[in-house]
Amino acid sequence: MAKNKKSNIPATNIFNKNFFVTKSPQETRNLGKKFASILKGGDIVFLKGDFGTGKTTFAQGIIKAFCDKDFARSPSFALINEYDAVKLKLFHIDLYRLNPLIARDIGIEEYLYGKNISIIEWADRLLDVENDNHWDIEIENMNSERKIKIENKK
Ligand SMILES: Nc1ncnc2c1ncn2[C@@H]1O[C@H](COP(=O)(O)OP(=O)(O)OP(=O)(O)O)[C@@H](O)[C@H]1O
Ligand SMILES: [Mg+2]
Repeated sequence: MAKNKKSNIPATNIFNKNFFVTKSPQETRNLGKKFASILKGGDIVFLKGDFGTGKTTFAQGIIKAFCDKDFARSPSFALINEYDAVKLKLFHIDLYRLNPLIARDIGIEEYLYGKNISIIEWADRLLDVENDNHWDIEIENMNSERKIKIENKK
């Protein structure tokens, strides 16, 4: 079955393959951290998956890589958490509580199209954005493991 995915392969190479299995929150965080190394200003990352699959955990890894902050909290109550990295900001956005109809009205798009990086949980609350260039991270729960699919959507 699933092999241990720990390896010393440079991060830029490991994402040629796009399925990963993690066996703990720490492994999911580490995968997020490696994934961060291929992100650049302007990138949009959608985190998809059911409740409690590990979207925030993966985001914590990305944020740790950019800001050396230990724990990104779930932004569920804040909607948007902002982090300062070198030359850019990271926005960790959770749209779960948002009514799709008002997503645009609150100006969420201002965050998406610029030189910063946006990481979005429950991005399906945003109408239309599926058509834009973004990364799709889909996390599936398999008992204690997580299957994580990473795709660059153009
Ligand atoms: N391999 C794994 N990767 C990530 N999380 C895991 C893993 N195994 C167990 N967990 C647990 O699953 C939960 C994931 O929580 P997290 O808040 O990251 O999920 P989420 O997808 O952001 O949830 P929500 O839908 O509420 O936003 C944590 O309690 C974590 O400890
Ligand atoms: Mg979350």
